[in-house]
Amino acid sequence: MALFAVVQAAFLLTLLSFRTYQSEVLSEPLPWTPESLEVSINSAQQCLYLQWRVHNLTHHQELKMVFQIEISRIETSNVIWVENYSIPVTWNQVLHWSWESKLPLECVTHFVRIRSLVADASIPEPRFWSNWSSWEEVDAQKSLGQDPLFVFPKDKLVEEGSNVTICYVSRSPESNISCAMEDVPIHGKRLSPNVSVFILNDVRFIRETGTNIYCLNPSNMSGIILYVSKVLEEPKDFSCETQDLKSLNCTWDPGHDTTLRHQSSQRYTLFESFSGKTKLCEHKKWCHWQVAPDSQETYNLTLTAENQLRRRSVSILFNLTHRVHPMKPFNVFLKSISATNATMTWKVHPVGNYSTLLCQVALHGEGKVIQQHNVSVKVKSQYFLSELEPVTEYVTRVRCAAANHFWKWSEWIGQTFTTLEAAPSEAPDVWRNVKSVLGSHIVTLFWRPLSKSHAHGKILFYNVVIENLDKPSSVKLLSIPAPANGTELTLDQCSYQIHVTANNSVGTSPASIIVISRDPGNKNVEEGRIQGTEDGFSLSWKPQSGDVIGYVVDWYPQDPRCQLQWKNLDPNTTSTVIRSDAFRPGIRYNFRIYEISTERIAYLLEKKTGYAQELAPSENPQVAVSNLTSHSFSLSWKDYSTDSQSSFIQGYHVYLKPKEEQCHPGFEKVVLSDDSVCCQYKIDNPEQKTFVVENLQPESFYEFLVTPYTSVGEGPHDAFTKVTIPDEYSHVLIRIILPMIFCLLLLMVLCYLTSQWMKEKCYPDIPDPYKSSVLSLIKYKENHHPTIMNVNDCVPDAIEVVNKLEGSKIQFLGARKSLTEMEFTKPAYLYLLPTENYSGPGPCICFENFTYNQAASDSGSCGHVPVLLKTPPSQLALLTSPENLLKTLEQNYVNSSGGSPAGETSLNYVSQLASHMSGDKDSLPTNPPGPALCSEYRTQMAVSLGLASPSPSENSSLSSVTLLDQGEPRR
Ligand SMILES: *[C@@H]1O[C@H](CO)[C@@H](O)[C@H](O)[C@H]1NC(C)=O
Ligand SMILES: *[C@@H]1O[C@H](CO)[C@@H](O)[C@H](O)[C@H]1NC(C)=O
Ligand SMILES: *[C@@H]1O[C@H](CO)[C@@H](O)[C@H](O)[C@H]1NC(C)=O
Repeated sequence: MALFAVVQAAFLLTLLSFRTYQSEVLSEPLPWTPESLEVSINSAQQCLYLQWRVHNLTHHQELKMVFQIEISRIETSNVIWVENYSIPVTWNQVLHWSWESKLPLECVTHFVRIRSLVADASIPEPRFWSNWSSWEEVDAQKSLGQDPLFVFPKDKLVEEGSNVTICYVSRSPESNISCAMEDVPIHGKRLSPNVSVFILNDVRFIRETGTNIYCLNPSNMSGIILYVSKVLEEPKDFSCETQDLKSLNCTWDPGHDTTLRHQSSQRYTLFESFSGKTKLCEHKKWCHWQVAPDSQETYNLTLTAENQLRRRSVSILFNLTHRVHPMKPFNVFLKSISATNATMTWKVHPVGNYSTLLCQVALHGEGKVIQQHNVSVKVKSQYFLSELEPVTEYVTRVRCAAANHFWKWSEWIGQTFTTLEAAPSEAPDVWRNVKSVLGSHIVTLFWRPLSKSHAHGKILFYNVVIENLDKPSSVKLLSIPAPANGTELTLDQCSYQIHVTANNSVGTSPASIIVISRDPGNKNVEEGRIQGTEDGFSLSWKPQSGDVIGYVVDWYPQDPRCQLQWKNLDPNTTSTVIRSDAFRPGIRYNFRIYEISTERIAYLLEKKTGYAQELAPSENPQVAVSNLTSHSFSLSWKDYSTDSQSSFIQGYHVYLKPKEEQCHPGFEKVVLSDDSVCCQYKIDNPEQKTFVVENLQPESFYEFLVTPYTSVGEGPHDAFTKVTIPDEYSHVLIRIILPMIFCLLLLMVLCYLTSQWMKEKCYPDIPDPYKSSVLSLIKYKENHHPTIMNVNDCVPDAIEVVNKLEGSKIQFLGARKSLTEMEFTKPAYLYLLPTENYSGPGPCICFENFTYNQAASDSGSCGHVPVLLKTPPSQLALLTSPENLLKTLEQNYVNSSGGSPAGETSLNYVSQLASHMSGDKDSLPTNPPGPALCSEYRTQMAVSLGLASPSPSENSSLSSVTLLDQGEPRR
C-alpha cells in the first residue's frame, strides 16, 4: 500500500512538472529552434542547399532532433515538398540539407521554411514543434540576363529512361511560344503568364552530341542541349589471370559505352582489399595489375565502374596460382620424319620458378584431328608421332596449361609436315577380257589406280610379268608407265600366269595374279535378260564348282567407247547389286559373272543384258519400199539394229492409213495418240525386218509407218511415208509403149535426115536475101533493124510492075496516069519524078538486092550499078567493092537523114527480081529473065545517088555495066 502511494505521488509530481514545462513552452519561444537559415542554389544539379544552426545547446549536450522543412513554389501557400529530417544535434553544429528539384530552379521562385522538434529520450514528452522560421525566398531568375526568352535546364545530363522537366521563361507574357524536341513539337503546362513547363518522359539516347530542344516566339528563339547517356552497366565477366605469376591481366565486358561529347566517359578502378592498393584502369576492357613481389597468394579485387550519374562495382576473390594462363609454346620443330613416324619438339615459357605444364599435342590430317596426346613439360619437350601414313601432309599443334590447377589452355601453335614415300601396300585390282582370235588369245588387262592410302607415293609404272605355265622358263616382263590403266597382250594357246605390280620411287606393291588358261573359259553361255532398278542391277548366280576364291562381275555398256567395269566378290556370295552413277537410262549394259578358281582362272558362269531403265525408241527404222506393183509393195528395214536401241525391241507395228472403212486382212483398226484411226499390223519377231503390204488398189496412194514397239512403248508416230500404187497397165506402158515410142522417134529422125539429104541433093535451098551478112553490117540511123528497107520508108517515085496478069488497076499516089493503060508485057520503070529540068546526075531508079548481089560483086562479076537518069544504065558507075559501097551507103544515109527522102538528093531504087535461077549463085544468068509469071515485088532499099555514085570516069567498070545490062530487062 505504501509502495502504491509512493508511485502515485511520483507520477503526480512528474505530471505536474511537465505541465509547468509546457506552460513555459507555450508562453515563450522554445529553445533549440533552427536559426540562421541560409538557402543556396546549385543550378546545374537543380539543388537547394539549406544550412542552419540550433542555439541554446549546452556545451556537451547532444540532442536528437527532427527538422521539418517545407518548400513552396511560386507562392508560399503552394507547398510542394514537406520533409522531416532527423539528426542528432550537438553544440554549435551547422546543419545541412539539400533537395533536388525536378523543375529547374530558374523556372519559378521557391520558398523554404523550417521548424524543429526535440525527439530525444532525455527530454520528457509531450513534444512540441517549434515555430516555423520565416519563408526564405529563392529566386534564381534574378541572376539571369536581359534575354527575352530562356529555356532551362541548361546542358543537363540525364540517363536514358529518366523523366526530364524543362521550362521556358519569357520576359514578357506571350501566348504564341512553341517548343520542340528534335523538331517534334512538345506541349506543356503554363505555370504563370511567363513560364511554361514541359515534362519529357523516358528520354532516349539519340546521339553523343545530345538532344536539341528549343522554344521560339515570332521574334526570338532559345534552346538547350539535353545530354542523354546510356545507363552505366555493371561490368560483366570480370576475371583476372596471369601468364607468369608476375602480373595479372583483369578483363571484363563493360557493356554499353556511356560516353557523350563534352562529358567524360565512365572510369574503371581496381581495388585490392588485402593490400589496400587501388589502380585507375587505362583501358575500358582490361586492366594490368602488378603482382607484389611478396608472393601474396590470395587476391580480392573489386572493379568499380563510374560515370557522372552512376557507380557500379563487382568483386572477385581468387588464388593467383589457380589463374595461370600460360603463353603459347614456341620453337616447334619436326625431326626425323620418315614414311610413318616423326618427332616433334617445342619449348614453353616458364611460369614462376617451380611449375610444371601440361601440354596437349594434336595431329591433324585432312582437316580432322587424328591423334591427341597429353605431355607433361618442364621447359623443353618432345613427342614421338607414330602410325602416320606415307606421303601425307599433317599439321601438328601443341598448347599448354598449368598442370596443378588447370585454368585455361594457351593458344595453339602448329607446324605442317609431310611424311615420306613408302612402297605401295596393296596389289592393284586387275581384271581381264579375253578374246580368241585365229588361235591366239587377245588379253586386255585392266587395273584400277591404287588409292592414295595404298599407293604411298606417286605410282611411276606398272610391271606386268607374263609367265608361260607350260614352259616355266619363259618369262616376259613389261613395264608400263603410269598413269596407264591397262594393256593388251597377244598370247598363244598356252596357259599363262600374269603378275601385275605397281611401283613408286620406293618400291613395289604386292602382285596381282591372273591365270589365262589354254581354254579361255568363254564357253557358250545363254545370255539372259535383266531389269535394272533405281538401285542398280541385281544379279544372282549358282555356284558351280566347290573351290572358288571369289567371283567377279564385269559389265560394259553397248557403246564400245566405254570401258569395262568390274566388281570383286567374296567366295561365299551368290548375289550382288551393281550400282553405278554411270548407269544411264536407255543404254543397254552387258553383265558377265565369272568364278575365280583356286588356280586363279576365271570361268564364265552367266551372261545378262539389260537396261537400268528402258526408254521408248526415239527413232523409227529407215524403211525402203521395193517391189512396187499395182497390188502390193514390200517394206524392209534391214539396217535397223535391235541391239543398240534404248530398250528391248519386241517387234514392229506397221501402220497403214486406211482407204476405206475396213482395214486390210491381218491389220487391226487402232486409234493413235493424235486420235487418228489407223490400221495396224503387228510383227512379233524383232528380227523380222521385212513386210509385204498386199491387196492394194491400183492407181491410188497409201501412207504407212513402221515403228518398233517395246515394253515401254513404241517409236514416235512421225511422218508417214507415201507410196503411189501404179495402175494395172502401167507396167505394160512402161515395158512396151515406151520402147515403141522411142523406136518411132528414131525412125522419124532418120527420115528427116534422109529428106534433108535428098533436098540438098535434089533441090537445094534458095539463099534468103534477108539473111545476108551484109545487112547486119549496115548501121541504120533511124531504123534499127538490119532488114531491108521498108516500102513505107520510101516515097516511091517509080515502080516496076512485073507481069501483071489480071490487068487490074493499080493506083499510086502521085502517079500521073493509070497503070492499066500501060502494057505489062515487060517489066518497066515508072518515072514518078519530073526529069526534064533535072541537071547533073539525075535521080535514077533501079531495084537492087544487095544481098543477092553480094556474091556476084565479091566475085567481081557483079556490082552495084547506080543508074543515072539522063544516061542509059550502061553508063552507070560501078562500085567495085562492097567496102566502097558500104562507105558510100553509110555516108549517104547519115547525110541525108535530115532531108526528105524525096528531096533534091536523087533516090535510086535498085531492085532485084527474084530469079528462078538464083539458087545457083555461081552461074550468072546468061539470058535476061523473061517476064516470070510468079515474079513478085520485093522490098527495096534507097540509095542516094549523089553520093553513091562516084564520077563515072573514076571507077567505072564496063564489064559490070555489061553484066547489069544483061540483067536489065528494060533494054
Ligand atoms: C538562448 O540563447 C540566446 C542567445 O544565444 C538568449 O538570448 C536566450 O535567452 C537563450 N534562451 C534560453 C531559454 O536559454
Ligand atoms: C517517369 O514518369 C512516368 C509517368 O509519369 C513514371 O511512370 C515513371 O516511373 C517515371 N520514371 C522515372 C525514372 O522517374
Ligand atoms: C589483357 O587481356 C586483354 C584481353 O584479352 C588483352 O587485350 C590485353 O592485351 C591483355 N593485356 C596484357 C598486358 O596482356
